[in-house]
Amino acid sequence: MYNLLKGKKGIIFGALDSNSLAWKVAERAHQEGAQIVLTNAPVAMRLGAINELGQKINAPIIPADATNNEDLNNLINKATEHFGSKIDFVLHSIGMSINVRKSRHYTDLKHDDFLKAMDISALSFHRTMQSLYNLDAMANEGSIVALSYIAAQRTFPGYSDMADNKSALESIARSFGYYYGKKSQVRVNTISQSPTKTTAGSGIKGFNAFYNYAEKISPLGNANADEFADYCLTLFSDLTKKVTMQNLFHDGGFSFTGVSEEVMEFFMDKE
Ligand code: NAI
Repeated sequence: MYNLLKGKKGIIFGALDSNSLAWKVAERAHQEGAQIVLTNAPVAMRLGAINELGQKINAPIIPADATNNEDLNNLINKATEHFGSKIDFVLHSIGMSINVRKSRHYTDLKHDDFLKAMDISALSFHRTMQSLYNLDAMANEGSIVALSYIAAQRTFPGYSDMADNKSALESIARSFGYYYGKKSQVRVNTISQSPTKTTAGSGIKGFNAFYNYAEKISPLGNANADEFADYCLTLFSDLTKKVTMQNLFHDGGFSFTGVSEEVMEFFMDKE
């Protein structure tokens, strides 16, 4: 351990069970000396295992639906009260699409469900930052991170409306990052993570194909959840103070590899 986050205080959204990317970040941030408040949607309190994590890392859990401004204001007020100070870092690790869950084809999406998914997966990031900003809850030089996927830039059949949600999420990071940087040197970034076996990940039709294909293309192989947590901590630490408004690929090199020898071999003898 490096004591990278010693004395820092953060809110972590989205730890559902021990596979969740947010769960790993919470555990690692705690190991690195951070104090944490955990949050998730009220329904996740019943379905998931977040209480177990709360006990393990001595973190209070404050439920909040990330599409509800009142819930977000309440969460942020309670968190600053609990910490007795402003917040140094926030992880937004939230995603959900009913169209994806129901495997609806992209050309036949239900638009009410599309709007809901956009609100949960992208606009909630704006809502969260707006609450933090208006309540003046972020410490100077704080750091805010959300989770994205390369379907924001390139088409992956089956990822459906989540691709559009991720594009919006990345754009919100840039737009809010500008204003938050000006206000109080707060940086805002998204991390674009390899396919990872979690509840949200495995809910995508064809997830195994995405996962195995990326594993074969990426020179370093897919990044797993523990490696994600390590990378995320660097963005919360004081070592990355001038990194902002970026979408940072944490994908073993997948995003910049055209083809790998393994995939070439597979096609070599085909006429
Ligand atoms: P997960 O299913 O463990 O986490 C998703 C979380 O979103 C859950 O904790 C869920 O309760 C929360 N959530 C859903 N609706 C909410 C609401 N209204 N308010 C508050 N929270 C709500 O799965 P995972 O994979 O850890 O997902 C976290 C993030 O990582 C998501 O943004 C996902 O799109 C992103 N991601 C996942 C990848 C993967 O392959 N697993 C790859 C790249 C990005």
